[in-house]
Amino acid sequence: MSVFTDRKSIRKYDKNHQIPDDILNKILKEAFRAPTSMNMQPNRVVVVRSKAEKEKLKDVLYGNQIQLETSSAFIIIFSDLEKFDMAPKIFNMAYENGLMPKEVRDRQIENALIYKEKFTSDHLKRDAYIDGGLLAMQLMLVAKSYGYDTCPIGGFNHQTINDALDIDKKLLPILIVSIGKKDEEGFASLRLGLEDTVIYK
Ligand SMILES: Cc1cc2nc3c(=O)[nH]c(=O)nc-3n(C[C@H](O)[C@H](O)[C@H](O)COP(=O)(O)O)c2cc1C
Repeated sequence: MSVFTDRKSIRKYDKNHQIPDDILNKILKEAFRAPTSMNMQPNRVVVVRSKAEKEKLKDVLYGNQIQLETSSAFIIIFSDLEKFDMAPKIFNMAYENGLMPKEVRDRQIENALIYKEKFTSDHLKRDAYIDGGLLAMQLMLVAKSYGYDTCPIGGFNHQTINDALDIDKKLLPILIVSIGKKDEEGFASLRLGLEDTVIYK
């Protein structure tokens, strides 16, 4: 079994299976090893598990109701548009763990303040989608390695999801990943060949 070639989107899960908290936390911790631009780690996830919280997503989704009803959790990836405010914490951690000299820490924190002023909203959003996408992919592969299946879900209302779950607007919604024990085989899907997708120079 290779998680890379065997992963496929699963949309129906065993309703009665709840992923144990410790396993879910392990999956999330490993997923968060995904790289981010300048290691600024803007990804935040909201894990929706209870029936009451799932109910709030019913009208936010475009279709995708089977995943909502049967999954163990909806992991909703957001990106913090004020990510540079975390620079002191991030670089101080590196310094305190002996990974960075003091001068480098101070320079990095100063640079982050400059970026905070300079980055346009478009630039921030572009990085947010890249960082969030990398987290989503790693999350799906890590989940598979723990015997769980997933479905990436972009079919939701990006304008209403924050209000529905009472999430601060500084968090930009990126993608939902449903996760659970599979109760279907899912569809096989093909990929275009390298002749259509790769340009060697
Ligand atoms: C950005 C993105 C958004 C997606 N949104 C949905 C969705 O809203 N609902 C759904 O059932 N599948 C969704 N998918 C799953 C794709 O349909 C699926 O990944 C694709 O058909 C390839 O199949 P596979 O994942 O089984 O390899 C999405 C995938 C991506 C990457």
